[in-house]
Amino acid sequence: MSRLIVVSNRVSLPSPDGAQGGLAVALQAALREAGGLWFGWSGKEIDTFTGSVRFEESDGVRSAVVDLEPQDVEEYYNGFANRTLWPLFHYRIDLAQYNRSFGAGYERVNKRFAEPLRVMIEPGDTVWINDYHLIPIASQLREHGINNRIGFFLHTPWPPTRLLVSLPYHERLVQAMFAYDVIGFQTGEWLESFLHYCQNELGGTVDGEYVTFEGRTLRAVVCPIGIDFRNFVGALDTKGAADIAQRMQVSLRGLSMIVGVDRLDYSKGLGERLTSFETYLQRHEEAHRAVVLVQVAPPSRGEVEQYRDVREELNEMAGRINGAFAEVDWTPIRYVNRGYSRDELIALYRAGKVGLVTPLRDGMNLVAKEYVAAQDPEDPGVLVLSRFAGAAAQMQEALLVNPYAPEEVADAIHRALTMPLAERKRRHKALLEGVEREDVHWWRERFVSMIEAAPSPRASAPAPSAS
Ligand code: ADP
Ligand code: F6P
Repeated sequence: MSRLIVVSNRVSLPSPDGAQGGLAVALQAALREAGGLWFGWSGKEIDTFTGSVRFEESDGVRSAVVDLEPQDVEEYYNGFANRTLWPLFHYRIDLAQYNRSFGAGYERVNKRFAEPLRVMIEPGDTVWINDYHLIPIASQLREHGINNRIGFFLHTPWPPTRLLVSLPYHERLVQAMFAYDVIGFQTGEWLESFLHYCQNELGGTVDGEYVTFEGRTLRAVVCPIGIDFRNFVGALDTKGAADIAQRMQVSLRGLSMIVGVDRLDYSKGLGERLTSFETYLQRHEEAHRAVVLVQVAPPSRGEVEQYRDVREELNEMAGRINGAFAEVDWTPIRYVNRGYSRDELIALYRAGKVGLVTPLRDGMNLVAKEYVAAQDPEDPGVLVLSRFAGAAAQMQEALLVNPYAPEEVADAIHRALTMPLAERKRRHKALLEGVEREDVHWWRERFVSMIEAAPSPRASAPAPSAS
């Protein structure tokens, strides 16, 4: 029987403490429903890479993981993935580091992943690779003679050509993508950038959804990821949710709460968000002792200096703003550096009169969708959403803002907190319909069926190599 084999850098089986990031949460949900196998890095290090695979099973999801050695983690994960591609793909070439050892580590680890993976792939299996860590893996698999259908989904933005060309060997990275049958993007904007690069930099030809380069054709599509709506909303009835709801009710004592939930990442615009909230407090005396911002931001990628810098910057900002505005009986910002379980998160979202989701650039942003799903339809909160989040394309009924403009965000906070019930309900209803309809299962079914629809077996000519 043909199976779905999902591959991503991080394989994260269901765990009670959350903080996994959007990709892991979404893939868990997809695999729980579709069955199949999830392959990737265990997140653990061993002295020397062995390539030996451990199989595990949890909550109906089967996984196969390998450990990496310290040099791999440094050059591939902390290096090329998180110091080079992540900032570049989020339009931050000022933060991107171009270091040859990172590129070499990236290709080495992709080869190391491809080795055990090719042994697991059986004829007829559909292979689905996820995210920027693993772009060249399909070309490695093709070199090993794997001619199964292989799709790639990019969870981050794809940068404009004029930024991408700042990456040394950018052609090599993109040429390797022609080993895939289908490539999926979160929004039309990222797809357009990809097509623009293929046509104008690579010299490929674009015909509708099909892109051809040196005799290889791939299909490039938009397929926005969603949340596991039903499962998520089910958490409202749990004890964890009831406990947090009770604690928040007691601790808020009539204060209106604005809620932010993000990995501590510079792309999330947390510094700009605090500045916007400060601007709001400066302009709205009536908010003093009446409004509180609860910002949950668990640390992420702590080996990378820019993540440590952003953490320090936020500690300083939250302390400074609280110092300037707090009263003995009111602190304007509650800044929390830990993860919460899904049950706790949903109750936090529901307690928020405003969901403040203001990334500077984001592939999708599932927090925006979770916030909407968590609201009481009879008395919903208002989503204030960055126009630069991929989610904005599907969530036009949110209050869309430019996260770089503090006065604009401050005005949106005020508007959200004073919005009449009828308008809140109207906006929420439209948003909820989209979040419920275009959920993670819709996303998985659409994308996998596009991979399955690709012509197979592939022509036997070898794909352009990434190495
Ligand atoms: P990213 O993948 O960049 O982290 P997303 O918004 O798409 O951003 O996904 C974040 C996911 O991680 C959401 O499912 C969210 O619930 C989860 N998450 C974020 N912060 C926390 C936290 N403090 N505790 C638990 N889960 C969190
Ligand atoms: O696409 C966003 C992403 O990079 C995912 O791959 C990942 O689930 C999430 O951010 C968290 O990042 P990391 O796995 O580096 O902790």
